[in-house]
Amino acid sequence: MERTLSIIKPDGVKKNIIGEVIKRFEEKGLRIAALKMIKMSREDAKGFYIVHKERPFYESLTSFMSEGPVVVMVIEGESAITKVREIMGATNPKDAAPGTIRADFASDIEHNIVHGSDSKESASYEIPYFFSALEIK
Ligand code: CMP
Repeated sequence: MERTLSIIKPDGVKKNIIGEVIKRFEEKGLRIAALKMIKMSREDAKGFYIVHKERPFYESLTSFMSEGPVVVMVIEGESAITKVREIMGATNPKDAAPGTIRADFASDIEHNIVHGSDSKESASYEIPYFFSALEIK
């Protein structure tokens, strides 16, 4: 069993597709082990994406991620990290395979609806960034 952190970003919440995104994870056999809606401050978003701090898109990404509510969740299952990334599709929706969340709903590489941890190492930073052990069931 593996755990990963996923976020339905402000564009996903605004497009009213929270249920659709969760359904796509659940129907592939993944389980939601924790979930909440929050609004990040700019500092919260900067801390979450700290690995990208030298990238040219860091300022605009962290501004976007703190502009409205997001749904954060812990997703559990066999190979959950890889499975979630397959269901989401490539970061840039132009490259995302048909039938993936980003191909179906994302408008561009920044406004790409959903986030998923890219490795075990990322998941072990990202999950406790939002959830205490007691909140994960
Ligand atoms: P995410 O999976 O949340 O991880 C980092 C995010 O940075 C990524 O999704 C995109 O939203 C964003 N991102 C990655 N590359 C670029 C880019 N070239 N331009 C703008 N945003 C980017």
